[in-house]
Amino acid sequence: MQVTLEIFRFDPEKDTKPHFDRFVVDAEPEDRVLDLLEKVKSYHDGTLAFRRSCAHGVCGSDAMRINGANRLACKVLVKDIGTRIKVEPILGLPVERDLIVDMEPFFENYRSVLPYFINEEPAPEKERLQSPEARARFDDTTKCILCAACTTSCPSFWSDGSYYGPAAIVNAHRFIFDDRDQGAAQRLEILNQQMGVWRCRTAFNCTEACPREIHITQAIAEVKNAIITGRLD
Ligand code: SF4
Ligand code: F3S
Ligand code: FES
Repeated sequence: MQVTLEIFRFDPEKDTKPHFDRFVVDAEPEDRVLDLLEKVKSYHDGTLAFRRSCAHGVCGSDAMRINGANRLACKVLVKDIGTRIKVEPILGLPVERDLIVDMEPFFENYRSVLPYFINEEPAPEKERLQSPEARARFDDTTKCILCAACTTSCPSFWSDGSYYGPAAIVNAHRFIFDDRDQGAAQRLEILNQQMGVWRCRTAFNCTEACPREIHITQAIAEVKNAIITGRLD
C-alpha cells in the first residue's frame, strides 16, 4: 500500500513561516508512523527533523500531533489511521525545527512541583517499608514517561503556558499520595497557587492523549480534593 504523509516543516535558518511537505511512501499496514518518518528521512529528505529513541513507547520522546491528536509516533499503526496522515509538532511549545519542539518550558513546569521523594528522617538500614495498599494509592501516576502529550493537548495550557499542566500535576500526585514522603503540604501549596490545579477546567483532553492510559483528570481531581479537605486518603 501507499501512504500520503503531510508533514509540518519549519527551518528557522531559512523559513520565515512553516509549511507542509507531502511525501508518498510504500507502507505495510503494521508499519508505525515512526517507521514512515524514518522512511522519509532515509529515502526522501534527510533534513526532516524529529525526536525518537526507544521506538517502543517507553522513552516518551516522539509525541506529535497525528491527524489532529497527540500520539506517540511509535505506537500508531497505519492500519488504524488510514493512508492519509498529517503529522505536526505538539502544540503550545516553541517549534525548534520541523517536528521538534523546545521541551524546556514543559520541564520547567515539571520541576516546579518538586517531583522527587522528600523525607528528612534518617533512612532505615534496609528500606522504607510500605504496605501494598499504600503503594497502590499512587500506582497509576508512577506510569508517566514525561512525553508531554497531555499538557500540550490542554486548552488551559494553550491559553497560558505558565499553567503547570497535567503532566506536572500527575508527577506531583505520585509523591503527594506516597505515605513515605513528607513533601505533600509543600506541593499542595504550590499547586493551590494561580498556575496550579485550579487552571484545570476538566477538559479531559489530557486523559484522552495519554499513551500510558493514566487517569489524569481523576488524579487532578484528587489533588484538588486534597487541597480543599487537607486529607490524603
Ligand atoms: Fe505523557 Fe501521560 Fe505522562 Fe502526560 S501523564 S506526560 S501524556 S505519560
Ligand atoms: Fe487540561 Fe486535562 Fe484539565 S486537558 S483542563 S488538564 S482535564
Ligand atoms: Fe520512545 Fe516512541 S520513540 S516512546
